Amino acid sequence: MVSLTEIPKGQWTTHLCRQIRDAIRGGALRPGVRLPSTRALAKDLRLSRGVVVNVYEQLTAEGYLKPSAGSATRVAHEFLLKTGSEPVCIHRIGPFVEHNPGLPDPGQFPRTDWLRAYRTALKKLSDTDLCYGDPQGFEPLRTELSDYLGRVRGVIAKPEQLLVISGYAQGVAVVAQILLGCGIDAVAVEEPGSTGIRHQLVDWGVTTPPVAVDERGLSVLALRATGARAVLTTPAHHYPTGFVLAPDRRHQLLNWVHEGPHYIVEDDYDAEFRYDHAPISSLQPLAPERIITGSSVSKTLTPSLRLGWLVLPPQLIEQAVRVKISMDLGTPTPSQAAFTEFLRTGAFDRHLRRSRRHYRIRRERIAERLLQFLNPSVLTGTEAGLNICIRIDKHVDDQAISDELRSIGSCCRPLSHYYQHEPQRGLILDVATTQSTHLDHLQRLLTSATRQSH
Ligand SMILES: Cc1ncc(COP(=O)(O)O)c(C=O)c1O
Repeated sequence: MVSLTEIPKGQWTTHLCRQIRDAIRGGALRPGVRLPSTRALAKDLRLSRGVVVNVYEQLTAEGYLKPSAGSATRVAHEFLLKTGSEPVCIHRIGPFVEHNPGLPDPGQFPRTDWLRAYRTALKKLSDTDLCYGDPQGFEPLRTELSDYLGRVRGVIAKPEQLLVISGYAQGVAVVAQILLGCGIDAVAVEEPGSTGIRHQLVDWGVTTPPVAVDERGLSVLALRATGARAVLTTPAHHYPTGFVLAPDRRHQLLNWVHEGPHYIVEDDYDAEFRYDHAPISSLQPLAPERIITGSSVSKTLTPSLRLGWLVLPPQLIEQAVRVKISMDLGTPTPSQAAFTEFLRTGAFDRHLRRSRRHYRIRRERIAERLLQFLNPSVLTGTEAGLNICIRIDKHVDDQAISDELRSIGSCCRPLSHYYQHEPQRGLILDVATTQSTHLDHLQRLLTSATRQSH
């Protein structure tokens, strides 16, 4: 960091003081940052320890540093106040990912079991495993996942058809690039549907014609009318309304995919959380050469792991791996290996059983409270998933109600947020975090808004 070789010996103290001062003023050394011990810094810079001691004392006297008895010297927090300098520390640059309804309760993350799996996995990994891994994904994980997806989702895929990704979001990016490579530049999306996913597709240069969704799921008639050759859909549990694609619509969708060189991109995002009966299985085995399905652990474990998978038709795998390599050379091996252990030992199944119970109870309590002031017909998606949709009067401003609820800590979203055109009104509640105070407030807000709109 400091080159002192050309500085006359008598000026070392002055020079080092200036360098540290500049680093603090410039923000390279932020308030609270721990400095090396005088002994360690002297050794690094090949100086006598006395010079560094003098420098630290000088800067402490000037208010830049704060020593503490028996502990490290740190950059003083008071420095900014004393000098009147503008803080150079920028808290957040640019946009960030907002917490949308439908995420798991972070308190439910099985820290102890995950740690056990991680420890076992790390012990088992060879030195070679700690180099760049297989960009398609850790092979033992792809094997475990193909068994798991077959057992739980009815997906029929060899491990060679799986691509491990950093969350479904990366899957969307990979798929967008594959489809563009096939000459497909429009991917129809559900209306309403995930705004984040739609924005991503647009960012990758794909247009997103909207396709209406009703209580029987995606309208295949409307899909056909768009002329798009690919559709991104959530058939097992529509996001955010919770509707399930009706059997005749599934049939129509499969007919559509065979009508031309079409693709279905299935977002199987939270199929593990069905509370009344087994979830409807994945579409993938019904047209494996035309359907890309995928999901992640974002709903089941935590979105912070950034770990997911795509199951691809054989003819698209090579291209998908190429895209993955160009994006990040592969998903981190240690967390893939930990998830492998988690699946292999049955810890994932146990966690899912516990989570299902936890969210079912929460969901029942929320629904019970909502039904004290709402008609059952306006509630949808109460049988599955981690969010509940409430439809409200079209004259009521759902954005304003959602803003009010968010101001008291709820993670609700207006239904209108999920539309490209002609939004319907409603509210999407988060099962994991909704509190009774939020529901009390919602009752007051809806009562007053409905009164005003009449
Ligand atoms: C509809 C939908 N699909 C997929 C995901 C998962 O995205 P990721 O795996 O990138 O966290 C989410 C996350 O909130 C979602 O809402």
